Amino acid sequence: MKALVLSGGRGTRLRPITHTSAKQLVPVANKPILFYALEGIVAAGVTDIGMIVGDTEDEIRAAVQDGSRWGAHVTYIRQSAPLGLAHAVKEAEPFLKDEPFVMYLGDNVVPDGITGFVTRFNESRPDALILLSRVPSPERFGVAELRDGQVIRLQEKPANPTSDLALVGVYLFTPRIFEAVRGIKPSARNELEITDAIQWLVDHGSRVEPHIIQGWWKDTGRLEDMLDANRLLLDNLSPSCAGTVNEGSRIIGKVVIEAGAEIVDSTVRGPAIIGERSRILNSYVGPFTSIHHGVEIRNSELEHSIVLENSKILDVSVRIEDSLIGKDVVVRRTTRMPKALRFMLGDHSEVELAT
Ligand code: TTP
Repeated sequence: MKALVLSGGRGTRLRPITHTSAKQLVPVANKPILFYALEGIVAAGVTDIGMIVGDTEDEIRAAVQDGSRWGAHVTYIRQSAPLGLAHAVKEAEPFLKDEPFVMYLGDNVVPDGITGFVTRFNESRPDALILLSRVPSPERFGVAELRDGQVIRLQEKPANPTSDLALVGVYLFTPRIFEAVRGIKPSARNELEITDAIQWLVDHGSRVEPHIIQGWWKDTGRLEDMLDANRLLLDNLSPSCAGTVNEGSRIIGKVVIEAGAEIVDSTVRGPAIIGERSRILNSYVGPFTSIHHGVEIRNSELEHSIVLENSKILDVSVRIEDSLIGKDVVVRRTTRMPKALRFMLGDHSEVELAT
């Protein structure tokens, strides 16, 4: 069995972060989202991995390299354009050839892994096995309708869903899927949809089995889902301290302090992670916060947020919450006159002011 990991796409819902970086490499609990996928695939015994990439190819290659750190072998497949999940499958056919494969969306997190799912596929050998999860708002997802334990209908983001079973971004396919992707037409948004390809299988007499997962999963394509994944993954960490904490500081609950990090006269209330060489000075870092490497937080309060490398939050008098702060960003209060808000924001940035 091979794996196909999708790390191309446009990432429009995560702009401006995706103007400069791959969303699959945003660290959640200080580890790139994509790495959780690679760990899950290798844990299921699959090591021959095709990686679909787009404009962010160089960055993905630099982070994943040849995959040997996971004991895997990664082959990069440049998608000619981000024209849909089924389009990615089509372009990967020369790599996948006639083997069954697990397809994993590189921005999805399934922390309980996919081993049970792969085992079930190998035992029951359907033409396709799809992973489903009950969700409160199915209209945001691809949705599957079941009858007698088989999939009978799939719909992409239906306005009036007839089922609450959403497609999780992990699928197991046999080479029949190539016939399906050749048999479908682009959707209204001009993408080759994987839901249409699976529906094609159903309509042409193929056996499509569902596997309903009980644990949580996240598609981190939107900011609030990314923060949610961060919250859930931080909760799984075991506390540790490889940095320094001075006497005037308080560390409460599950907190990971990485090498070279310094906590000075501050409170950190877990679950939280403070990355290598970051400095927290006279500040409060609250639950569900991931601070990446080389960050400085001084005289400020922050909670339920992700801060990427080398950013600075200085003297901000209002608590920052529910935020994703990119790399090398500076947020600071000044006493410079005239007293005003001054911004330099990238395209598609969003700022919410409390006062
Ligand atoms: P999506 O999140 O569905 O699409 P997107 O990345 O284009 O994002 P947005 O809707 O915000 O513009 O993609 C799921 C995963 O599949 C993600 O890791 C990107 C990847 N992908 C590809 O590799 N090729 C593609 O053509 C598409 C559409 C997505």
